[in-house]
Amino acid sequence: MKKDTCRKTVGVIAMVAMGWTVSACGEAKPPAPPPPPPPEYADKHMPDGYWNNPDIIAEGKAIYTGAENIDVNCASCHGKDGKPVKAGARDFRGTEHMKLFSDSQWFWRVSEGVKGTKMKAWKSKLSEDERWKVIAYEATFGLKDMEYSVAKKQWVPAGTSGDAPAASGESSK
Ligand code: HEC
Repeated sequence: MKKDTCRKTVGVIAMVAMGWTVSACGEAKPPAPPPPPPPEYADKHMPDGYWNNPDIIAEGKAIYTGAENIDVNCASCHGKDGKPVKAGARDFRGTEHMKLFSDSQWFWRVSEGVKGTKMKAWKSKLSEDERWKVIAYEATFGLKDMEYSVAKKQWVPAGTSGDAPAASGESSK
């Protein structure tokens, strides 16, 4: 009897440990929301009219693929179509995961990188405008025809966020 219980306990511990190992490797873990952006990034939002704008997306693509500047080649890790080619980079086509990021959180990650990973800070190589363009492009992998609503704090279908000021309204940005 006692031996049996012990074996079971060891079994459970082994399973838990295995579970941890799997989650430590990344992909098997259910997506967890990233931490909130630091205060200096909390109020950074996609410029009006950038989401799903073909011209902006084309410029973002040129940055992402290194066509604009060979020193900035997001595709070398994140893949040309958002499917990662380097270990550790997440799949940008994973809508459920990518939805957990607000526009500010993406901007923060691209600007400052992610400590302890291969993702470095790009703020010295890309202007704010260029960072937004590359983000607008990146969103087309898993969040095509969506935009982030600052007011609703979630991703909504393109053109429905209502964040853009009305023609007669004043801009808050
Ligand atoms: C040398 C490889 C490499 C390059 C080049 C690279 N990244 Fe990353 N990136 C990573 C890795 C690895 C992570 C995952 C960090 C983590 O664990 O959260 C990451 C994370 C991200 C994230 C946060 C989402 C997430 O999964 O945590 C964004 C957004 C991002 N990268 C965008 C970009 C953009 C835009 C560029 C180009 C300007 C770029 N990356 C260039 C490796 C890279």
